[in-house]
Amino acid sequence: MNITKMSNKKPVFVLMLPLLRTVGLRAFSMASEAYSSGTHSAAFVTCPNDTVAKDLARGIVEKKLAACVNIVPKITSIYEWQGKIEEDSEVLLMIKTRSTKIPALAEYVRSNHPYEVAEVISLPIDQGNPPYLKWIGDIVPE
Ligand SMILES: *[C@@H]1O[C@H](CO)[C@@H](O)[C@H](O)[C@H]1NC(C)=O
Repeated sequence: MNITKMSNKKPVFVLMLPLLRTVGLRAFSMASEAYSSGTHSAAFVTCPNDTVAKDLARGIVEKKLAACVNIVPKITSIYEWQGKIEEDSEVLLMIKTRSTKIPALAEYVRSNHPYEVAEVISLPIDQGNPPYLKWIGDIVPE
């Protein structure tokens, strides 16, 4: 049995372990930096018609208050207002932005919306397609 030959092989394998660990850890930390739940939000704003919806949507995107606004046409809303049950045809804005932009978004909508009390609500985005979530962050500054 040649002890010198055996001990010659060991260092090669031992040297490879730290390399594999480094590569593995880097891959892990890149994946965990990708998106953290709640970083971005979906906000909803109801509008009286297409004209108001498009004007608001364009202003929101131009001012970088959101990366994307979808306009959902012809929704029907039933709600109570000043003691009466109302039914109106409305248009819904579905807005994707950074959660930190929600207060500025709400302020922008308040100042540019015809309603006395404009609806602005938001929900945190938990998960999604990583490149899409990254895109929202790339478009909307912190
Ligand atoms: C849309 O709504 C606004 C605000 O209520 C109103 O001034 C405007 O006339 C409406 N436009 C159309 C095309 O209905």
